[in-house]
Amino acid sequence: MIDIAASAAPAIPADRDRVQVWDLPLRLFHWLLVGTVALAFVSAEEGSGLGQWHIAAGWIAAVLIGFRLLWGFIGGQHARFASFVRPGKLAEHVLGLLRGRVAPSLGHNPLGGIATLVLLVAVAAVVWTGAGLIGGGEAGEELHEGIANALLVLIGLHVAAVVLMSVLSKENLVAAMVTGRKMRAKHPRAVDAVPAAGVALPVAALAIAAGAYGVLQIDGQAFTPGARAEAADTEAAGGEEGDND
Ligand code: HEM
Ligand code: HEM
Repeated sequence: MIDIAASAAPAIPADRDRVQVWDLPLRLFHWLLVGTVALAFVSAEEGSGLGQWHIAAGWIAAVLIGFRLLWGFIGGQHARFASFVRPGKLAEHVLGLLRGRVAPSLGHNPLGGIATLVLLVAVAAVVWTGAGLIGGGEAGEELHEGIANALLVLIGLHVAAVVLMSVLSKENLVAAMVTGRKMRAKHPRAVDAVPAAGVALPVAALAIAAGAYGVLQIDGQAFTPGARAEAADTEAAGGEEGDND
């Protein structure tokens, strides 16, 4: 099979000990998503001092998901859906795992590719049902909370799978998601990932700006955490005055 990466990669790798896998935008996306989703969960707790951040955190996660969908088409080699959505390889991969065979994978392995899609869809579903709650109304709250709880389970499985695969494949996957690189010793024939085209970054920046603008059209106070609380206070105070009349 002809490897497109091989033809496009530089002849002399930049780092002889490590091979480039995840591009910087993908890594930033991942850790920002972890931060915003964690903040959304912590701030959702009743009585949380961070309560006013819940909706802003959720909306930022929404913009991040939008970015990731685009990056799946225009990003670096291993960020592209075409490189890791490989249902045809799933059975072989899972059977191998059951037999204790763990083939090191440069990008997402076939199971990890599916997990990626499931996590993205789950975050999007939580945001979607959360957005439906804006403007009051209790309807849909249980659905939002239910999907959020399902997401929590998925995240637990995700972290457990990352740790398990790191141990089985003797490769630190978390470090790879931080540095973007994997040890070349584990992938002797691998070549550095083909980076995204130069135009991809400005296109993604525009898409992020458009996404944030779109969110503001739906919810003008999306990124102004204090405003909603102040408005609610004013409303409550106004209501009391009205009662006294
Ligand atoms: C809110 C919690 C989290 C969410 C929503 C989340 C989501 C994701 C997603 C969507 C991907 C696929 C990356 C891509 O877009 O291609 C991914 C990959 C990854 N995540 Fe997370 N993640 C979470 C927490 C964590 C934590 C706490 C760790 C560290 C222990 C972690 C480690 C990784 C690693 C190492 C990968 C790459 C897996 C591979 O090599 O195939 N994630 N995560
Ligand atoms: C990753 C994103 C999100 C996560 C993980 C998340 C999680 C949660 C959870 C667990 C609850 C239940 C809190 C409880 O125990 O009562 C909740 C409530 C709620 N969420 Fe979200 N959420 C997210 C995004 C959003 C977004 C984007 C919005 C709005 C645009 C939103 C609006 C709400 C509202 C209005 C409630 C009801 C709060 C209340 O109890 O009064 N959420 N969310």
